[in-house]
Amino acid sequence: MTQASPPLSAAGREPLRLGPALRARPPTGRDRLDAILAAVLERIDRNLAVFTDAFPAPSSVDGVYPAIDNSEWTNGFWTGMLWLAYEASGQARYRQAAEVQVKTFKRRIDDRINVDHHDLGFLYSLSCVAAWKLIGDACARDTALQAADLLLERYLPAAGIIQAWGDLSDPAQAGRMIIDCNLNLPLLYWASQVTGDPDYARAADSHIAQAARYIVRPDSSTFHTFFMDPVTGAPREGKTHQGFSDDSCWTRGQAWGISGFPLVHRYKADPDLIALSARLATYYLNRLPDDLVCCWDLVFTGPPHERDSSAAAIAACGLLELARALPLLDPDRAAYEAAALATVETLGTRYLLPLGEPGTGILAHGVYHMPNRVGVDEACLWGDYFFLEALVRLTRAWEPYW
Ligand code: GLY
Repeated sequence: MTQASPPLSAAGREPLRLGPALRARPPTGRDRLDAILAAVLERIDRNLAVFTDAFPAPSSVDGVYPAIDNSEWTNGFWTGMLWLAYEASGQARYRQAAEVQVKTFKRRIDDRINVDHHDLGFLYSLSCVAAWKLIGDACARDTALQAADLLLERYLPAAGIIQAWGDLSDPAQAGRMIIDCNLNLPLLYWASQVTGDPDYARAADSHIAQAARYIVRPDSSTFHTFFMDPVTGAPREGKTHQGFSDDSCWTRGQAWGISGFPLVHRYKADPDLIALSARLATYYLNRLPDDLVCCWDLVFTGPPHERDSSAAAIAACGLLELARALPLLDPDRAAYEAAALATVETLGTRYLLPLGEPGTGILAHGVYHMPNRVGVDEACLWGDYFFLEALVRLTRAWEPYW
């Protein structure tokens, strides 16, 4: 299903079709970005009353997030938004709400509530690592280290990967790694930095090398998931889970790759990670509809196929992280930055949900799980998070919680 691709450059990238148009585009002004940021903060304020003791569900229903407890893979995105809002505004109300929530992350890890998966980085980097970095909360640091220990237990030494899902004895999930895990690895690197124990970083080093080798295809698209033999360590096969087909390219997976390889590069300085991210970014940018907001699978490039605004928001952060790590004279660096800025402006202009009732999401037209028809054409919590992260990256010098 992967489309025939044009010849690759020496750096392994396709020619960037949008490059000249992006470089010629007048940059979005600071006033416009500040206005979009203010609109996002207004929506967070409206939701604080419902979502301090409770959390938004992963995706909205008719635009409104149901309230849930701390039990999903996505809870960290809301707490992370509160930390970002605190940094962007200096307002104590966001910090106070985030601190209430951080306590629930400790209960969750102590009581082992739905932590039998690799998404501990999404959960604990954005909540507890952020609390440690921003306000020196030592209890939050220790909680995040507990999460890193659990994540390390999922490392399969023969395969050299962190298993994504399920009990480690479940044959259906044995040896499955997924591209999304790139964003869980910073928790392991951070744990090595904080404790001085190299084992966390060694596991992350091995996983990212296996992901680069097996999840990224020669044409710079990605498998969503890839199975390794957990006993022999041999590669088995690529499979999709949320994409259109095993050989198509699930857009959010590509966005996790664009953003995750350069985030890992912050800890494991390796130019190959940046080269990979650039290849993935170019593949992604070459398959966008005219408004730069991707369809849910990159095999589709426009109507009638649903957009995934959440993948566009992740990709915008990834493009900014990539541009930061590229040499100033890289031929596509300015275009990657311009694409990130243009994406954020489009999302803030044409994809913001109206203020609505308490609980209403921020970004319209996201897709959670198309094959299961869950969260289709809805707000997705990670989309809201990465949209705000992109706005913060664009408007201030920001140190990631990752
Ligand atoms: N990490 C799960 C998702 O992106 O839906």
